Amino acid sequence: MASGRRALPNILVTGTPGVGKSTLCEQLAENTGLEWLEVGQIAKEFECFEEYDEVYQCPVLDEEKLLDEMEDKMSEGGRIVDYHGCDFFPERWFDIVFVLRTDNKWLYDRLVSRGYSGKKLEDNIQCEIFQTILEEAQGAYKPEIVHELRSDTPAEMEDNLEKITAWVEQWKNGACT
Ligand SMILES: Nc1ncnc2c1ncn2[C@@H]1O[C@H](COP(=O)(O)OP(=O)(O)OP(=O)(O)O)[C@@H](O)[C@H]1O
Ligand SMILES: [Mg+2]
Repeated sequence: MASGRRALPNILVTGTPGVGKSTLCEQLAENTGLEWLEVGQIAKEFECFEEYDEVYQCPVLDEEKLLDEMEDKMSEGGRIVDYHGCDFFPERWFDIVFVLRTDNKWLYDRLVSRGYSGKKLEDNIQCEIFQTILEEAQGAYKPEIVHELRSDTPAEMEDNLEKITAWVEQWKNGACT
């Protein structure tokens, strides 16, 4: 990338609910000074919802409204976007995409301990087994910018944090293309 390169990169951190996106992003924002955008929170703050989904017991996202709310910040650069979906964001927004992955024996307990049960629990576990979000990311972004990261243990989380922080530092120093 030549003239279009942003001074600060935009990073997407995605993956099935419970894989550790927000835990990672919070620390990454602290390490790098980039702004963490938790998409679920933005959607709530700006009321980007359509009707309520009775099966999943959650409101359905109004994607167009959400994208409009985010556009100015994303165009500036320097944002870390945290969401469990990724194919509706404009491809141009992101310089790198990380898909966090967690083995089901860990993910199951994390989801149960936050109160998930029944169909919601099963569907999220299946989403991880079938690597749905990884494939979604691979279908939506250039393969060379999509990276799969294991997030089974706190040690792996630390390792991911260090690697991404180093990548951001390189970008700031103009070393990434
Ligand atoms: N690598 C890890 N090792 C052990 N525990 C972890 C790891 N990552 C996250 N956790 C724990 O798993 C739980 C879920 O993490 P977190 O809320 O960050 O997930 P999330 O991907 O943001 O989920 P959601 O998509 O629902 O927002 C938290 O209790 C967190 O402490
Ligand atoms: Mg989260």
